[in-house]
Amino acid sequence: MSVIPEVPRIGASNLLSLKDLTCGEVAHLIKFAAWVKAHRYDSRLASVLQGRSIALIFEKPSTRTRVSFEVAIRELGGHPLFLSKSELQLARGEPVADTARVLSRYVHGIVARVYRHETLEELARYSTIPVINALSDKYHPCQILGDLLTIYEKFGKWRGVKVAWVGDGNNVCNSLLIGCAKVGCDIWVATPRQYRPHKEAIRAAQAASQETGARVVLTEDPEEAVRDADVVYTDVFVSMGMEEEREERLRTFMPRYQVTQKLVSLARPSFVFMHCLPAHRGEEVESEIIDGPHSIVWDQAENRLHAQKALLIALFAR
Ligand code: CP
Ligand code: NVA
Repeated sequence: MSVIPEVPRIGASNLLSLKDLTCGEVAHLIKFAAWVKAHRYDSRLASVLQGRSIALIFEKPSTRTRVSFEVAIRELGGHPLFLSKSELQLARGEPVADTARVLSRYVHGIVARVYRHETLEELARYSTIPVINALSDKYHPCQILGDLLTIYEKFGKWRGVKVAWVGDGNNVCNSLLIGCAKVGCDIWVATPRQYRPHKEAIRAAQAASQETGARVVLTEDPEEAVRDADVVYTDVFVSMGMEEEREERLRTFMPRYQVTQKLVSLARPSFVFMHCLPAHRGEEVESEIIDGPHSIVWDQAENRLHAQKALLIALFAR
């Protein structure tokens, strides 16, 4: 491993949320991801995961996370095993703890997308191998690792960059709050009162901001958040698993929390638009914006691959 420069040292053995990483570890990991991106096919990276198999357990659909993890693992010389929950004995009631114990005897790591965050915590408790959160109802840390890389590429820094989240205080928002605060981006979150981010994420962001000096502001006013923002970020109003709340949610979020031309006219002229995808054009964002010149959503999607490669190297090559 000595041939790969500056592999970040990470204290935690799992990544269930960005709380698991120190401020310094997040920044180092993302700068390392930029190196990994610039050396995508470098022979030094081709065998980092040689002889290792990593299980990808998905309880919900996925395009970006599944494909980017499968490709990341293969490009590092490892073997990904995609395991849909419906085809595992989990679907017939085998306990999560037993699944974790058994997989630990076969594979070297577990990447899991779950409905309930507690499922990940249980997987991690009973596994003897690293567990990575590929999205839960509470957090989406891998998304934000890629996003912080994207912001760094666009602005060349994090400090002094104002990020505005508009919409649902959901899993992506919770992780963005923590991630921005950990690297020193100012993060303004505008949500309706009943859809604020999780208290745990707010507390973690506030604690990190003491260290980095980031501003962490929660508001119900999208205009206040977007005014002079460098980054405007949104996500769907109805996340996976919340389909039954669809009508009520759309009534609450629309039109006030939609990212429209009128709203982004308050941002800096050079602002960028971000969305973790998949998007619903005409709901949380107007198509003129997501498909327009300020949108960097495809760079974001690509950076999932590079950030996850960096994470896998940091977790497994030690
Ligand atoms: N952004 C994201 O996680 O996309 P997928 O649901 O396609 O994995
Ligand atoms: N908040 C969305 C993110 C999808 C990547 C969801 O959980 O469905």
